[in-house]
Parts: sequence; C-alpha cells; structure tokens
Amino acid sequence: MKSIFKMCTLGTVALLLSANVQATEENDNAIDYRQNALSVMAWQMGPLGAMAKGDMDYNAEEFQLRANNLAALAGMPWEGFVEGSFRGGEHSVSTGALAKIATNMDDFMGMADDLVVQTTTLAELSNGDDFSAMRKQVGKVGQSCKSCHDAYRGD
Ligand code: HEC
Repeated sequence: MKSIFKMCTLGTVALLLSANVQATEENDNAIDYRQNALSVMAWQMGPLGAMAKGDMDYNAEEFQLRANNLAALAGMPWEGFVEGSFRGGEHSVSTGALAKIATNMDDFMGMADDLVVQTTTLAELSNGDDFSAMRKQVGKVGQSCKSCHDAYRGD
C-alpha cells in the first residue's frame, strides 16, 4: 500500500516536473521570439533615426522602405509577452521584461498600440515629400519606444 502511494507520488512529481519543463520551454520560445522581433524593429529604426538626425543623408526610397517595414513589424512582438515569461517567471532565457507587465497588461498593450499608430503615420508620411513632418514623426516613434522601455523594461 505504502509503495503504491509512493509510486503515485513519484508519478505525480514526474508529471509536474515535465509540465514545468514544458512551460519553461514555451516561455523561452516566447522570449526568444519577442526579443528577435524587437531587434528586427530596431534594425529598421536605425536608418530612420540617422536620417532624422542628419547623421545620414535623406534618401526617399530608403526612408520609405524602412518606414513601411517598421509599420509592418510594429504589431508583431507583443504576442510573445505571455504570462510566466516575465522576470521572476518560469523561464531559462534572461529577459528585460519586468514582472509588472503581467499586472498592467492593458496599459502595456495600449503602448504597443500607440507604436502601431505612430509607425503607420510615419509610413504614410514617407510617401509624401514633407521631410520636416517625417523627422518629427520619427521623434514620436522614438518616444513611443522610450515610454514603454522606461515603464516596463529593466536594465
Ligand atoms: C509596449 C512596450 C514596448 C514598446 C512600444 C517598445 N519596446 Fe522595446 N522592449 C520592450 C520590452 C519589455 C523589452 C524587453 C524584452 C525582453 O527582454 O524580453 C524590450 C526590448 C527591446 C530590445 C532588446 C531586444 C533583445 O534582443 O533583448 C530592443 C532592441 C528594443 N526593445 C527596441 C525597441 C524599439 C526600436 C522600439 C520602437 C520602435 C521598441 N523597442 C518599442 C518593450 C517595448
């Protein structure tokens, strides 16, 4: 009787452990996904920032390409911010995503939506010839990145 009980307990522990491993793996995948998506966004943002600052000559074709890519990417990282994948959660990949994202999901997603709005506006402006408006809009996009990083990203 005792040994059956023991076997059951061991079985339960093994099950729980494998559930744990699976959760960890899923969270690791989500973290990898969002960090990669954010890196791709940053790559596209680079030349836009450089042109807006005057570190790089304005080139309409390049600006348009980057602005359109950024707008297309802006909605993508957020599905990787799943419960359990924040700091203190069950994962083995290190993350800068603060634990408070979980309890402020609406606010966090609101900031993600703002990025979509700002980058869509930038992509629209990039089809025109008002470079001064484009520069200002790059600033708004950058501000959108920064607001969220200040609130929800650790060092
Ligand atoms: C809604 C919030 C939010 C917005 C908007 C946002 N970020 Fe982030 N970003 C984060 C969080 C949270 C992390 C930490 C992710 C992690 O480590 O799991 C992060 C991480 C990053 C990273 C590091 C990725 C890595 O490899 O670890 C880069 C690069 C980055 N963001 C660039 C940007 C750029 C560029 C923008 C704007 C175009 C932007 N982010 C907008 C929340 C945001």
